[in-house]
Order: sequence, then C-alpha cells, then structure tokens
Amino acid sequence: MFQELWKQEYERGGIPSSFRVDPTKVVMHFLSFLKERGFEGSFAIDLGAGKGRNSFYLAQNGFSTLSIEWLQENVDEINQKAANAKLPISAYCQSVSTPWPVPSESMDIAIDIFCYKHVVDKEQQKNYRKELYRALKPNGYYLLSLAADDDGFYGSFLKEPSYNECKLIIDPHSQIPSLLYSLEEIAEEFSDFFTLIQGKKEISHSPMYGKDYQRSVLNLIFQKKI
Ligand SMILES: C[S@@+](CC[C@H](N)C(=O)[O-])C[C@H]1O[C@@H](n2cnc3c(N)ncnc32)[C@H](O)[C@@H]1O
Repeated sequence: MFQELWKQEYERGGIPSSFRVDPTKVVMHFLSFLKERGFEGSFAIDLGAGKGRNSFYLAQNGFSTLSIEWLQENVDEINQKAANAKLPISAYCQSVSTPWPVPSESMDIAIDIFCYKHVVDKEQQKNYRKELYRALKPNGYYLLSLAADDDGFYGSFLKEPSYNECKLIIDPHSQIPSLLYSLEEIAEEFSDFFTLIQGKKEISHSPMYGKDYQRSVLNLIFQKKI
C-alpha cells in the first residue's frame, strides 16, 4: 500500500528527492569526511535509494554500490542507467526492513537519505538496524539524514492535536507517514550498536509541493561498534 503512495509521489514530484538528480550535499560531505579520516572502502549500500542520485555519486567515487528501493520502476531505471554508464551499481526491489541481499560484514559504508524516517513500525525499524549491524564491516560507517521534529514542513503537522507523543505524522499531500526526531532521540535509537561520530542539525530551504519551506534536517554519522 505504501509503495502505491510512493509511486503517486514520484508521478506528482512533490518533494525534492522525487525530481532532483544531483547528489545530496550531505553525501558529498560524507565522502570528504571519510577521505579526511583516511578511510578506504570499496563497498557501499544505499537504503531507500529512490531514483539512485546518491548511488550514482557513490559509484562515480569508487564504490561498488548496492541500492535497495521499494519501487520496481526506480530499481529498473537505476539498473538500466548503471549498465549504460558501465557503473558498478546493483539495485534490488525490496523493503529495507527485510533481510538485505548482502553477506555479513561486507559493506564499508551505508547511507540512508530520508528513508528510515518512513519506516514507522517499531519492529520493522529494529529489523533494519539489525541488518545494518550485520551488513557493515567492523568500524564501517553509516550516514543517516532525516527531518527534525522542528522541520518547517513536517514539524508543522506535529502541532495538530491528533498527533501523539511518538511524533508520527502523515503528510496530508501524499498520505505517506513519517516519524520525526530530535537529535538526541535518533542518536539514542541507534546507540546500542553504533557510536555517534558526528551529529548536526542543518537549516536550509527547499520546495515542498511547490512552496518554499525552512527545513531542519538531522545529519548523523555513526560507526559500527565492535
Ligand atoms: C524521500 S525518498 C528518498 C530517495 C533517495 N534516498 C534520495 O535522496 O533521492 C524515500 C525513498 O525510500 C523508499 N522507501 C520508503 N520506504 C521504504 C522501505 N521500507 N524499503 C525500501 N524503500 C523504501 C521510497 O520508495 C522512496 O524512493
């Protein structure tokens, strides 16, 4: 059912990731951060890859990249473009909360740009974090980007009386649900198995459904605990 809502969202092009083709800046910063640390890796996984803008950036920067994405049409598009460009990307159509098609401890890095926030079931979130832990190499890095609870767009729906303490909102334009977090809450959620290396709230502006909003985005870099 959520896949159908995502399909409609890509047809509508309401949120930036539905139409942007440039990689997300935070992914570019993440690769610079790894370079500065002298981190060398070859295998990456992009979770909720969308149409693959960040998977392509990772592959262009030397990573064999596996992309997980729910929509078959996005997966087909990524695989087709990757074959045409002769880039090492394999996209798989599945949920990020079911077992990932990778051997244990095989991934150097993982990225999630605005997908985890849409996994709103606590058990499914737990499965995702378990898979993340299993798939990453010891000391592997994970970049997570998601909307903060004071985001100018998503955060405004928290003010409605029907929304409760767990900060679950439903985008009235798309009916797609999201969970919102503070920096402390999301860091805590991953803290059992991942060490927070860097956590920042970044303010920007972006169009949502044709209107400009002040956005408040949490960008976190974790490292797998050993
Ligand atoms: C906001 S978009 C971001 C796409 C991409 N990361 C980007 O930045 O361009 C979220 C994407 O996650 C996918 N998605 C949402 N829930 C998912 C799930 N449980 N498993 C796999 N993909 C999911 C959607 O189909 C959508 O393409």
